[in-house]
Amino acid sequence: MPRYMAALKYLGLGLLVILLLGLAIAPFSKRVVEQWSRSDVEGRSRLVYNAIQGQIVGAMADDNVVQLSVSFEAVALDQRILAVGLCSSQGQLIAPTRLMPATFSCEKVARSEGESFSTIVIDGRRVMVGAFPIVDRARKSYLVILHDLSFVDVRSSEAQGFMIAALVGVALMIAGTAAIIVVMVLRGWMAALRRAVDDVRSGAAPPLRQRDPSAIDLQIKKLLSEVETGRHSISSAQIDWSPATLQQLLHSTLPDAEVLIVSNREPYIHNRDGDRTEVQIPASGLVSALEPVMRACGGTWIAHGSGNADRDTVDSHDRIEVPPDHPSYRLRRIWITDEEQDGFYYGFANEGMWPLCHIAFVRPTFRESDWKAYQRINERFAAAVVEEAKTDNPIVLVQDYHFALAPRMIRDRLPKATIITFWHIPWPNAETFSICPWKEQIIDGLLGSTILGFHTQFHCNNFFETVDRFVESRIDREHATVTLSGHETMVRAYPISIEWPPAALDGQPPVETCRREVREALGLAADVRIAVGIERFDYTKGILDRMKAVDDLLTRQPQWKRQLVFVQVAAPTRSKLSSYSTLQDDAVALADDINRRHGSDGYKPIVLLIRHHSAREVFKLFRAADVCIVSSLHDGMNLVAKEFAAARDDERGVLVLSSFTGASRELSEALIVNPYHVHETATALDTALRMPEHEQQERMRAMRQQIREWNVYRWAGRMLIDAATSRRRQRILDLAEG
Ligand code: G6P
Repeated sequence: MPRYMAALKYLGLGLLVILLLGLAIAPFSKRVVEQWSRSDVEGRSRLVYNAIQGQIVGAMADDNVVQLSVSFEAVALDQRILAVGLCSSQGQLIAPTRLMPATFSCEKVARSEGESFSTIVIDGRRVMVGAFPIVDRARKSYLVILHDLSFVDVRSSEAQGFMIAALVGVALMIAGTAAIIVVMVLRGWMAALRRAVDDVRSGAAPPLRQRDPSAIDLQIKKLLSEVETGRHSISSAQIDWSPATLQQLLHSTLPDAEVLIVSNREPYIHNRDGDRTEVQIPASGLVSALEPVMRACGGTWIAHGSGNADRDTVDSHDRIEVPPDHPSYRLRRIWITDEEQDGFYYGFANEGMWPLCHIAFVRPTFRESDWKAYQRINERFAAAVVEEAKTDNPIVLVQDYHFALAPRMIRDRLPKATIITFWHIPWPNAETFSICPWKEQIIDGLLGSTILGFHTQFHCNNFFETVDRFVESRIDREHATVTLSGHETMVRAYPISIEWPPAALDGQPPVETCRREVREALGLAADVRIAVGIERFDYTKGILDRMKAVDDLLTRQPQWKRQLVFVQVAAPTRSKLSSYSTLQDDAVALADDINRRHGSDGYKPIVLLIRHHSAREVFKLFRAADVCIVSSLHDGMNLVAKEFAAARDDERGVLVLSSFTGASRELSEALIVNPYHVHETATALDTALRMPEHEQQERMRAMRQQIREWNVYRWAGRMLIDAATSRRRQRILDLAEG
């Protein structure tokens, strides 16, 4: 309840209490005043009696009535005393004063051993008669003192009047105070609100949520807490996340919101093969995570048109509806020349940022020309967002290290946009990041986002540390925000995942069939055990390290020879870069070496398949395998690990997983290894191959449960919930600004 409402409530209550008090006290007050006046009169009478008792006895002894009269008249000078006289033992009135009422008689006097008081009515007036015994020579007479009581009535009415006046005064005082409070609170409320808005805008002060509670009106705090509560009630609910829930979430919390994605890699690549045009879905964790989300939500995906038939398949605005078989969203292709691609993609993104963020001990290279190209392409994508946006406040999902500058560029053009940037790779510690010559610009670009997401809290912490070191801003770790130039960015961990159930599992033959078919295709014996590794041919994936682990196992435990085959599927990627082409060469050479040393009679312990495999092929291989090895040297998440578990609806198979993947935080039932420790990985491989079925089942079941619950719809849903929260807060600020 707002403060001024509370004040009004208290005012009303106060007045009511005063009214009741007045009604309750009024009759009592009259009685109290009367009693008090009577005892006053009695006291006075007693004083008089004590004062003249001696004189009376003396005068009576002398039978000196005159003396008595003189004394009585002197006493009767007192205004309150009406009359004084002496009642003899025979009932005669002796020496009455001048104003003694004619109707008064000694019979009306109550006689007793001691003093007595009685009230009688004389000529319509209430009169109190005090009678005091005077003993003279065994004669008992009474001094009578008559008091006019009409002053008591006057006094009671006066007292009642005073009391009502006092109560009215108190009531008025309370009302006045409450009115002043209301005015002050209203003024303070508006001032605090305006100040808060200005401060948040200018960045001169902490955002609303972190300000001194006394500085912000409870009303605003309440609104904000409602926003928070709303968010939690959605996120903590046991929602079974699916495309339908995601759609429902969008409609309920972000009605009419327009969704735009910005990424380098496009979800569908059109390539020409002779006369035919083929559609390829790239091997990209980012694509496999976002594609199902886009299918669920609709919208526009802006990406680099990298296929050689891409230009032939778009309309005059470079747009195409996808997926090709069931169009549900729009792909807008951006064209990048080969020269720009060298600077933007190969150069700055993959020779600079990629090795910078992955601790795989490949030296990052920073070139001025690459940086220029990176800026230019970021500009181009930001401009495309503005072109594609139909509203001034779309939700823009900016993806990955290719677009660190785009959030700021989009923010400058569409200030009301909700920009959610997701960084799909790790964020290194500040020391490591410090070598980037344009670190300040990169951080500034990212802080144009409304929400900045990483896979793990660890990466968020690294980001805070980096911001703290290199940019003048305000970091609120409690609320996980960074405020730069008045703009607040939430920095949160959103562990990415895969769709559940995975589309690639649909229509897969039973596991036994997959095993048979894969063995046949690879020319493997029926009883041979299969371990697999599937990824892009990237030096961060630890492909050489796992081959060395296989080598180590076969060397230390030769009984596995002819019993174990390790199938490594590696999709060529970024081959133009020497760090990648060298890796391919090294991997081929190492596989040959291991096969030469441990193979015989057609048995090759390592099968290296260097080509792109479709998702269905990958899932088939997963289903055929006994073990999957994910030995990344450093990885934001690694979705291969999750896909392997998702492919195993038979709840069999063992995952050997690097501790340097984000996935290892979630899939703790895997055999977690340090891929730099060859012997440890080899031992884990041995353990995996010997693992009893029931243990495989328990571990696999737990991992599948985790992935089912924390699927990609939940990943997207959590970000969209936070986006809705942010939009609601912005609306409140706009309202407050009036
Ligand atoms: C990682 C990156 C993605 C990228 C993918 C494939 O997962 O985080 O952004 O799309 O690798 O790399 P590529 O260079 O082939 O797009």
